[in-house]
Amino acid sequence: MNNPAQLLGDGVLSEGLRIGSVQLDGCAVLAPMSGVTDVGLRRIARRFGASLVVSEMVASDDYVRGHEVSRLRAEGAGLDVHVVQIAGREAGWMGEAARVAQETGASIVDINMGCPAKRVTGGYAGSALMRAPDHALRLIEATVKGTSLPVTLKMRLGWDLDCLNAPQIARRAQDAGVQLITIHGRTRNQFYKGSADWRAIRAVVEATSLPVVANGDCGSLADARAMLAQSGAAGVMIGRAAMGRPWLVGEIASGLAERTWIEPSPDQKRDAALEHLDALMTNMGVKTGLRHARKHLSAYAEHAGAPDALRLRLVTTDDPGQATALLREAFVHLSGASLPAEAA
Ligand SMILES: Cc1cc2nc3c(=O)[nH]c(=O)nc-3n(C[C@H](O)[C@H](O)[C@H](O)COP(=O)(O)O)c2cc1C
Repeated sequence: MNNPAQLLGDGVLSEGLRIGSVQLDGCAVLAPMSGVTDVGLRRIARRFGASLVVSEMVASDDYVRGHEVSRLRAEGAGLDVHVVQIAGREAGWMGEAARVAQETGASIVDINMGCPAKRVTGGYAGSALMRAPDHALRLIEATVKGTSLPVTLKMRLGWDLDCLNAPQIARRAQDAGVQLITIHGRTRNQFYKGSADWRAIRAVVEATSLPVVANGDCGSLADARAMLAQSGAAGVMIGRAAMGRPWLVGEIASGLAERTWIEPSPDQKRDAALEHLDALMTNMGVKTGLRHARKHLSAYAEHAGAPDALRLRLVTTDDPGQATALLREAFVHLSGASLPAEAA
């Protein structure tokens, strides 16, 4: 194993991940999540210390054709290190998408080979590619050829328990020029059922000299330490657990590096949530942005310990002023919070 971030034992990492020419300041990454990791959320996670944040997946052909939805999903304004995740089934589009990502300011291109959705696998993309490794390699090669940026690959352990071929694919991806591999410790056929198998990720770590990032069910620093100890990975990726608390990724990055973590104050958390809502309404338009924000508003309110009745009002209002006021009110339930301005 030749990972730049060497595991010192008990989940302590000596330095940040290195991805090709890009040196990160830590080892905890915010996962790409379609419909969730919009640029507002990614900016906040990064500001609170996430070592890296990854865009929502974009379909390579739509992205190259300049579709507005793809442009928004891949947006990187305000991010110092910006990863665009691309998916597809045709080498030509993947190469072009990598080129467009570079032209529009990305620092890294990530290939999605883990998405289990039938909509995606039916189109022979996402995790379906794990059943067609030769074709997957053609897509990887085209992506690497399309850009001079570092290319990374995210996949699952395999298609099902009879096809755990992530180690073989990882080795071939390394030969093709990929610089980092992320493994979600489930197979495609497990979707999100059961628990992620962190020990199974070790086979990928041992098959390649690339840094490997372990993913699946990480909800705390203790989980991250256990993941690293069990998998031997060089970093961790956090997805669902960061909804409603995007600072969690920074907390984990800081803990893994043995840096002192100062929990954001309730007011800082409230202001981050308000900023996120505002970014969604600015980028998508007020009506769509507010509707899109609902899952986040619910998660923020839950994190803040707001009562169910308040949460319900928050996720059903179509009035942006009321949503803002209710979001402020939700954070009053976090201990130590100051009163909303209008109530003070
Ligand atoms: C709503 C949602 C959307 C997702 N979208 C993507 C995506 O666009 N690209 C991707 O590689 N993985 C996607 N994933 C998978 C996550 O990146 C991650 O691998 C998975 O959620 C497991 O990590 P977690 O247990 O920390 O959430 C998505 C997951 C969720 C829940």
